[in-house]
Amino acid sequence: MITTNTLFKTLGINNKNLLSVVNATGISKETLKYYNDSKKIPIGRDLEKICDFFQISPNYLKLRLGFLDNSILDVLSSETECLKKLFPYQPFVLNKGCPTPSFQTKLGKLYKQDCISFLKTIEDNSFDVIFADPPFNLNKLYPSKMNDSLKEEEYIAWQEEWVYECIRVLKPGGSFFIWNLPRWNTYLTPLLNSHLTFKHWISVDVKYSLPIPGRLYPSHYSLLYYIKGAKANTFHPDRLPMEICPNCQTDLRDYGGYKDKMNPLGVNLSDVWYDIPPVRHSKYKKRKGANELSLKLLDRIIEMSSNEGDIIFDPFGGSGTTYIVAELKNRSWVGTEIGPLEDIINRFSVLDEEKEYLQNIRAKLNCLFTEKDLKTRAKLGLWTPESVRKKKELANSLFDN
Ligand SMILES: C[S@@+](CC[C@H](N)C(=O)[O-])C[C@H]1O[C@@H](n2cnc3c(N)ncnc32)[C@H](O)[C@@H]1O
Repeated sequence: MITTNTLFKTLGINNKNLLSVVNATGISKETLKYYNDSKKIPIGRDLEKICDFFQISPNYLKLRLGFLDNSILDVLSSETECLKKLFPYQPFVLNKGCPTPSFQTKLGKLYKQDCISFLKTIEDNSFDVIFADPPFNLNKLYPSKMNDSLKEEEYIAWQEEWVYECIRVLKPGGSFFIWNLPRWNTYLTPLLNSHLTFKHWISVDVKYSLPIPGRLYPSHYSLLYYIKGAKANTFHPDRLPMEICPNCQTDLRDYGGYKDKMNPLGVNLSDVWYDIPPVRHSKYKKRKGANELSLKLLDRIIEMSSNEGDIIFDPFGGSGTTYIVAELKNRSWVGTEIGPLEDIINRFSVLDEEKEYLQNIRAKLNCLFTEKDLKTRAKLGLWTPESVRKKKELANSLFDN
């Protein structure tokens, strides 16, 4: 939720009378301008002073600014009869006629279409998993030439629209993932929390900009993870290999006496992912320009939240990473993309390359050490689950004797 009206417009403040508001309230011009320009709601004494001057209540001001908190909602929900005429009954209409896909595979259908108009043709409860990586409103030039520099409130309103539709078409027990900058994902949580069950806010460690003066170094993307209903139909996260030095294979952490307690199938997946590579090198990029996600990220998400035969929807095709991974993992998939589809279609013609890459990724999962690392560690005399087990057996037998 974001406030939509500016303070000055709401209260009729303009260049001519601004100074009198400053004098009467004692709030500096800079502070008033900050509230106005950044669309922040005044709080504490500032709120009181503004309300005293304009002779209005704080809740009325908040409402006029387009902000709803619980105290306002309480009042509104006790006055629903008065509000009824503002919200007349309108029958629900699902757009008729399923569009024709522009590209089809054994398992998937891709539509060259705006995702919201497409979603409006889809029945409730249709998809097992939805993954969405929307444009970030960073003024990037996409092949579709779409406007990636909307006003903040326009971008948030647009996001709420497609998110709402995605929630509707997600099956009960299905999983919904949204990939975005942390800042934008914070705005979506009230809507998501109203309809779905929060599962995780996953931080994916990727350095995506240079350090910015006056700010912490932005180093993670937010991956929101919600479930429709109380419990996920499917949840089988991969286990990861133990982190070791890539050069000398030694432990990066001291596991001390706990080595024998470590699961030989690997370490539990946490909600901070450090091992997702950005797809930066042009050699590996499937389309010119940024915004292609790593196959490894989609492999992890799809593996965790779906089974073979499930149906996955991604509203923002881009270069088709979700569709490629779904196809390789025997999931059905549906996608929309407003821009050119060539990059996605071409990718399906070299599916074997992608398959090999994915197989290499998966070969390193669900084990404490890879086969290769096990051999090297044994050669270097470093501990392995086998050596820890033998040592324990020896100690037990000495103790028994
Ligand atoms: C960030 S990219 C997605 C990248 C993708 N996840 C990948 O790994 O290749 C966002 C894509 O959404 C597309 N797009 C933007 N608005 C759209 C809309 N309303 N409907 C469908 N696609 C849209 C853009 O053209 C762009 O290709």
